[in-house]
Amino acid sequence: MYDLFDLHSREGEKAALATDAVVLRRFACGIEGELLAALNAVIAVAPLRNMVTPGGYAMSVAMTNCGAAGWVTDRAGYRYTREDPISGNPWPPMPAIFASLATRAAAVAGFEDFLPDACLINRYAPGTKLSLHQDKNETDFTAPIVSVSLGLPARFLFGGLRRNDKVTRVELRHGDVVVWGRSARLAYHGVDTLKDGEHPLTGRCRFNLTFRKAL
Ligand code: SIN
Ligand code: FE2
Repeated sequence: MYDLFDLHSREGEKAALATDAVVLRRFACGIEGELLAALNAVIAVAPLRNMVTPGGYAMSVAMTNCGAAGWVTDRAGYRYTREDPISGNPWPPMPAIFASLATRAAAVAGFEDFLPDACLINRYAPGTKLSLHQDKNETDFTAPIVSVSLGLPARFLFGGLRRNDKVTRVELRHGDVVVWGRSARLAYHGVDTLKDGEHPLTGRCRFNLTFRKAL
């Protein structure tokens, strides 16, 4: 039997961030143990690394990928590859629990039949951030983006289609999922400098999983 509090925290809340963009509070709570186990298995095969921007700067956020395609950057530019450039092997397959979470979250947000083929894994240590950017290296902008937060909280910035558009700031906590698409698909977004802290499941860091249809 569930009491009202349980029911409420199980369902979570769905909050509009912008037109065609929603935050599903705590949507990933309940399966976070499995998500983190799968995440660690991916990282064991395709280690987190600080990729280099086309301009030659090492990114402060450490990244890796799973799925058929992985997002990479180096001096040659931003793109998707089928192989991990470190090992030359295909990126680890997307864990079933990742794909099903992304499909369910997209459906709740109004995007049916989302089948991601790419999952970018970001690890934020205290002091790191991700500048405002658009996700635009994908071939198909009709599919949404699904973004899962695990571990330490972070301030997420969500703007419009132009870099200088007004930005909405929202705190993303462990288990929160953001979904954006359609008119918001190319919205600028980023993550403020991570504050130090300690999370019982991830320690001193935040992980973000970004699911996309890239190919
Ligand atoms: C991203 O835009 O790649 C990640 C967003 C986030 O970490 O919440
Ligand atoms: Fe992004």
